[in-house]
Amino acid sequence: MKIAIFYGSMTGNTESAAKTIAEKFGGAECFAVDAGSLTKMADYDLILLGSSTWGIGDPEDSWDVLLGDLASLHLEGKFVSFFGMGNQDGFGDSYVDAMGVLKEALSGSGATFVGTWPTDGYSFTESKSLENGAFVGLALDDDNQPGQTDARIAAWVEKLQSEVA
Ligand SMILES: Cc1cc2nc3c(=O)[nH]c(=O)nc-3n(C[C@H](O)[C@H](O)[C@H](O)COP(=O)(O)O)c2cc1C
Repeated sequence: MKIAIFYGSMTGNTESAAKTIAEKFGGAECFAVDAGSLTKMADYDLILLGSSTWGIGDPEDSWDVLLGDLASLHLEGKFVSFFGMGNQDGFGDSYVDAMGVLKEALSGSGATFVGTWPTDGYSFTESKSLENGAFVGLALDDDNQPGQTDARIAAWVEKLQSEVA
């Protein structure tokens, strides 16, 4: 299975998470998202989209160039998941919203969404990344819970591996 990670990161936290995720998969390719990312996605079977959240609930700026075009993607037969970096104490009403924004943009793509994540151990009020009481992908918080990032990534990668096996 060919795996790719596309991430947007302002200060490096999501980038660092993306690289750790790639290592745990042992062979995933890792790209900073840019205008060429859409065509690259066609080459992969499992596509992981990562973003920190900025403003109040916006994906990191690098996603701007292709957010509108995500809706036109055809990802039938492909698995897609998300990871998000945010600050649940400072932005508890928009914690990791970017994952929800990205998933919404792909709602008509035909992708099979995998890798939901429980909300246990997080403290926030609202998030666009919630569906049926779970995050649509892996929620991370290097501002308040940096010591949990590696373990969360390891457990999430295992969960993903079993879901796509
Ligand atoms: C001005 C500003 C706005 C932010 N807005 C949000 C937000 O709405 N939701 C959230 O979860 N985190 C928010 N954050 C926290 C960042 O997402 C967090 O610091 C993250 O680790 C940055 O990751 P990056 O270095 O990969 O961009 C905000 C941070 C700043 C400084």
